[in-house]
Amino acid sequence: MLDLGSGAGIGVFIARGKVGESGKVIGVDFAKVMIEKANKNKVKLGYKNVEFILGDIENLPILSESVDVVISNWVINLVHSKKKVYHEIFRVLKSGGHFCISDVSLNSDLPKGILDIVEM
Ligand SMILES: C[S@@+](CC[C@H](N)C(=O)[O-])C[C@H]1O[C@@H](n2cnc3c(N)ncnc32)[C@H](O)[C@@H]1O
Repeated sequence: MLDLGSGAGIGVFIARGKVGESGKVIGVDFAKVMIEKANKNKVKLGYKNVEFILGDIENLPILSESVDVVISNWVINLVHSKKKVYHEIFRVLKSGGHFCISDVSLNSDLPKGILDIVEM
């Protein structure tokens, strides 16, 4: 399994319970500090079959057609080109693989009062 924007590793550690000892879960994140944090958590938990890789999910450092399942939680909304991310998801998935994303999306225009607040 592959977790896009894995942060401190929570999604990877949960997914690990699904793939079992013979499976493998990879997390990709472009923030060095998050990869370091995730690796510290990995050591603390003593997991061997998880790996955290520094990289941009718009250009995944993952071989084509090598992944059974892609997951992502609260990341794709942050990415500049969602199209590139979906292209990458389809590239790395094996035939018959699937993906599951949890995120926020807009279904109408944001009110001007919110658009004008940089932090929002
Ligand atoms: C809101 S956090 C979510 C972390 C994790 N998925 C979770 O559920 O705890 C967003 C993460 O996405 C990463 N991220 C954002 N854009 C990214 C990109 N283009 N490529 C890789 N990682 C990215 C950030 O560094 C951050 O760790």
